[in-house]
Amino acid sequence: MVFSPDSIQMAVAPTEGASKAASLPRHVAIVMDGNGRWAQERFLPRTAGHRAGVGAVRKVVEHCAKRGVEALTLFAFSSENWRRPEQEVSVLMELFLSTLERETEKLHQNGVRLRVIGDRSAFAEALRERMDAAEALTRHNTGLQLSIAANYGGRWDIVQAAQALAAAVRQGELSPELVTPELLQQHLALADLPEPDLFIRTGGERRISNFLLWQLAYTELYFTPVLWPEFDESALELAFEDYAGRQRRFGYTGDQVAEQLP
Ligand code: FPP
Repeated sequence: MVFSPDSIQMAVAPTEGASKAASLPRHVAIVMDGNGRWAQERFLPRTAGHRAGVGAVRKVVEHCAKRGVEALTLFAFSSENWRRPEQEVSVLMELFLSTLERETEKLHQNGVRLRVIGDRSAFAEALRERMDAAEALTRHNTGLQLSIAANYGGRWDIVQAAQALAAAVRQGELSPELVTPELLQQHLALADLPEPDLFIRTGGERRISNFLLWQLAYTELYFTPVLWPEFDESALELAFEDYAGRQRRFGYTGDQVAEQLP
């Protein structure tokens, strides 16, 4: 088969950039883990770790915008995190609300588009309204595409896309044979963004934990022991360096990619 970087993209991962030369990831997805341990190491309540984690969020957002990363997706609260102690959940909700209140205008001035992915029906009305308002304010911004995954789960995402397709079939608008990976992908969260090039998980665990299950199919995975509140610009640069040394193959052999890609 004759192929080119373009055909690699079309054949396997239509929205991915495919090349060793693309050394900076276009889309970075992060599981921000280790807040609780950071606090416990300092004999502080776990919630102090979440508060400190907001500082790391700010650093990473600013640094990604500065470096020209197109999209950043942060896992802030999984659909399983409701199982945590009530007080911890309530501090997290308060942090989401206060951070949105404090940071939205600044993000907007910096051309950042903010969106929240996940099932937001479980959140309090005040928080939902803030999320809606932040999305509305920033929706036309073309700078960093910042997505916060809140009450999000990768399985939920796939199921809600499947439900949308099933509803279209029931309405007679879609025939089942026309259901393809590409069509399902169009109904997932972040359908308009390139799929993540780089997944980072802080805190030393090596799991995806029901994050963007579909979207991570060809993503490069990077795990670091650094606890989230300590993850900063230099830790992010180390992840970028590691990514730049990877060869992305999308199913081809290493030799094929080395021959064809710049
Ligand atoms: C995981 O660490 C972290 C979370 C479940 C919450 C992440 C939230 C923030 C970083 C703060 C607010 C975010 C935004 C976007 C405003 P963990 O508690 O599981 O840590 P552990 O594994 O050490 O217990």
